[in-house]
Amino acid sequence: MYQSEMVSRQELPDRETRVAALEAAGYNVFGLSSSTVYIDLLTDSGTGTMSTDQWAALLGGDESYAGSDSFERLERAIADVLGFEQVVPAHQGRGAENLLYGALVDEGETVIANTHFDTTRAHVGESGGRPLDCPVDGAFDIDAPGEFKGNLDVEAARERASAVGADRVPAVVVTLTNNSAAGQPVSVENVRRARQLADDIDARLVVDGCRFAENAWFVREREPEFADRTIEEIVREQLSYADAVVVSGKKDGLVNVGGFVAVADHETELFGRLRERAVLYEGFYTYGGMAGRDMAAMAVGLREAAEPAYLDHRIGQVRTLADMLESRGIPVYRPVGGHAVYIDAGEAVPEIPRERFPGQAVVCDAYREGGVRAVELGGFAFPGTDRPDFVRLALPRRRYHREHLEHIAETFGAVLDHAGELDGLEIVDEPAREALRHFSASLRPVE
Ligand SMILES: Cc1ncc(COP(=O)(O)O)c(C=O)c1O
Repeated sequence: MYQSEMVSRQELPDRETRVAALEAAGYNVFGLSSSTVYIDLLTDSGTGTMSTDQWAALLGGDESYAGSDSFERLERAIADVLGFEQVVPAHQGRGAENLLYGALVDEGETVIANTHFDTTRAHVGESGGRPLDCPVDGAFDIDAPGEFKGNLDVEAARERASAVGADRVPAVVVTLTNNSAAGQPVSVENVRRARQLADDIDARLVVDGCRFAENAWFVREREPEFADRTIEEIVREQLSYADAVVVSGKKDGLVNVGGFVAVADHETELFGRLRERAVLYEGFYTYGGMAGRDMAAMAVGLREAAEPAYLDHRIGQVRTLADMLESRGIPVYRPVGGHAVYIDAGEAVPEIPRERFPGQAVVCDAYREGGVRAVELGGFAFPGTDRPDFVRLALPRRRYHREHLEHIAETFGAVLDHAGELDGLEIVDEPAREALRHFSASLRPVE
């Protein structure tokens, strides 16, 4: 549904260069220079292509310190698309999380979520809280059936809340789509039930809505009540149950940087606290660490993200990639989620034991084979957990074309063809914070 108005040159470096670059990066693709990467599937966050309308808006950005017109445009877009009037901008999602969880969570309290995304988990922890995940059964099973495998297990959450003491649970969080559980969608009905739980235990309901539009697309497809509703109607209905919504604009804001937290009309006191924290940590509360021009571009991006033709193309592309991979025998997570394809490396390279990081071995080999950068989200990224050894192929929005998908599928096909010859890896050096090790640890191959 697009034509190119601007292009950037990209070349596949020769194999020798790739092998040397991987070794120099310590077999950790976070250490690669992007100039040596041909197709970058490391993340869908901030890596998309802006539209001509966004570039036009960017040129009209108002850089006033206070009361910027670009902020007012952003406020209107958030009110129209997401249904929230009280908005505090932030430099990106984790900045917004810092504002919100710093205001909501106290020492020793427990926050319950469908699955905490890494930065959410870290911010709950920074405030002295304990993040507790209650995904539904099958969320981490690549073959389990289910239309909304991203849902919160509300009954499990209720039991856990009563076990810790409901008065020690300040917030129930629902992340849609559930990035940590293979980008699986969450139903509106599930958010309604999460609202009921939050009311019963006198907690706030927070929705992490970075992928609000992709989630609404699945709701329209799979939840009969919403089959005839527009994406924007679904978004507003789904978010209307939340007391607060926290958003990284780098996903469905269709921008390269930015974010915000927005609160419901009854949350005036919380809104005041968030504004104060914004001044402390982000910037004045009408720019929150964003340039006016970036807010202007995000105001347009939020509206574009809810366009059905865009979403059909976006989610269709992720599905096409999954089909291409599967036709080459690669085990992919089903049903396919909204922003990425997840490969089960444990199944793809069963010869490599979990402690030798099969997912990381696949990631390294995909780079060596075809200059494709993916990311391991398994035993290497999440030490001490029993998360399956997934490799995530996150598709940037509006950036790649069908030829790119074919190259990706051929690359992983080649990896699978010689899977039996792949070496596992061992860690040579890692940072003090184990939870962050996949960003900076270095490794080496072991037979
Ligand atoms: C569900 C979710 N929440 C929060 C964040 C953090 O956003 P940011 O990277 O903009 O700080 C991300 C980023 O990937 C995410 O996927």
